[in-house]
Amino acid sequence: MNKIKFPLVVVGSQWGDEGKGKVVDILAKEADYVVRFNGGNNAGHTIVLNGEKFPLSLLPSGVLQGKKLFISQGVVIDPAVLLREIDFFLKRKMKVDLMIDPRVHVVMPYHKMLDAATELWKGKKATGSLKLGIGYCYEDKNNRFGIRVEDLIDPDSLAEKVKMYLPLKKLQITKVFGQPADLYETQIVKEYARYGTLLKKYVGDVSETIQNALNSHAELVSASDFRNRSRNKFGMTKGSKKILFEGAHGTFLDAVFGTYPYTTAVYTISGSVFPYVGIAPQRIYSMGIVKAYTTRVGNGPFPTELLNSTGDEIRKNGNEFGTVSKRPRRCGWLDLVLVRTAARLSGFDYLTLTKLDVLSKLKKIKVCTHYILYNKKIRELPAGMKDFAKCKPVYVELRGWNRDISASKELKNLPQEARKYIKFIEKELQIPFRFVFVGPEREQTIKI
Ligand code: GDP
Ligand code: IMO
Ligand code: MG
Repeated sequence: MNKIKFPLVVVGSQWGDEGKGKVVDILAKEADYVVRFNGGNNAGHTIVLNGEKFPLSLLPSGVLQGKKLFISQGVVIDPAVLLREIDFFLKRKMKVDLMIDPRVHVVMPYHKMLDAATELWKGKKATGSLKLGIGYCYEDKNNRFGIRVEDLIDPDSLAEKVKMYLPLKKLQITKVFGQPADLYETQIVKEYARYGTLLKKYVGDVSETIQNALNSHAELVSASDFRNRSRNKFGMTKGSKKILFEGAHGTFLDAVFGTYPYTTAVYTISGSVFPYVGIAPQRIYSMGIVKAYTTRVGNGPFPTELLNSTGDEIRKNGNEFGTVSKRPRRCGWLDLVLVRTAARLSGFDYLTLTKLDVLSKLKKIKVCTHYILYNKKIRELPAGMKDFAKCKPVYVELRGWNRDISASKELKNLPQEARKYIKFIEKELQIPFRFVFVGPEREQTIKI
């Protein structure tokens, strides 16, 4: 296998659900620390181990490898969901070695109500939000109206903030949106204080801890005898911590560079790791996760969408139903305009191709190489979303392989047509694949 360098950030290159959970699980074997740095429990990362499914929405996907786990300030937590996930592993006598940054914001019940009310208000233009309160939690964070983990674990501070914020939130839900708001201050304070008591032992400064772990590497790099030190296969000097940053969502769900407003509420591109963890800018390698076709949950333009039996077949074979919401995912051909744009935004050093097995039964496979916009060929997403809605995809058609590949262990075992598909993508993007997935299990991985 070719070398993969750390520190490494894993980023979805499409609209989410690319298979980041499995990638992080595999890479975590080599890492010391796994840091989840953005999003909330609207993310759903599924790892499959010996036939058993582990759906994670807040715990970093390094948990199954027993690694040191971190939730940094860029994440928002629903404490009940996080506690459920922790409990799930503790009950199975598995280690949960977790640190949560005190600056992390807490999703409150009124955030969920506001999410649902806003979707109703938007009507046909609804985002397709999971209504888990994520957008509103980030809104309060940015507007300095939020409750952080440091408040959650301090009953006085929690009570003071709930008392200050709740009346306004109730007015907003009832008077602005005309929706019911059965929210009671004492009940909320009691419930969330209990969560705080349970989570207190995990709270620590993630920013400082990760920066220090990265500094130990920097010191070695600047040491005069650096060149003489032994290096392991991951390109790190002995003694430094290998840090893996787990991104949630996907590039086109990014709140700015995604397909606005049909996005989530945070940055999802690799550079966001610096402020979202609280570390200084430095060289961090990045891996883009590319599903062999495209899916999207929720609304918004989707140029390569297949609204036909091929789309249905991909959905069925790929089990493309939301991890969190169970909603059927919209399916379409691989769109290299999206992935190329994602590669530019996040500077991918490596790629992983996932779910190649799902295409096995198709006779012909199309790949979108560019769009036509105003009679011109474009190779990257336009900046304006009105233009994006007008883009027409242009395809190259490749032959399918019509053979089960789910037991393939090496590239050379794959049918020629499947290898051609991989090579075609690699050539278009000029970035090397490090893994190709041919099934959900750890072993169903071709290492390159
Ligand atoms: P994430 O949000 O990017 O972590 O992806 P999800 O977990 O939401 O969705 C990916 C789904 O595909 C999960 O159920 C995985 O178990 C599954 N999966 C991952 N890689 C493969 C693969 O190569 N083939 C198949 N058939 N399933 C895969
Ligand atoms: P992972 O990490 C797929 C989508 C939602 C919705 C929009 C806004 O599993 O890849 P929100 O709840 O943030 O208000 O929803 O963003 N969305 C995702 N779709 N995978 C995800 O995460 C997603 N996270 C958010 O479906 O359209
Ligand atoms: Mg997912």
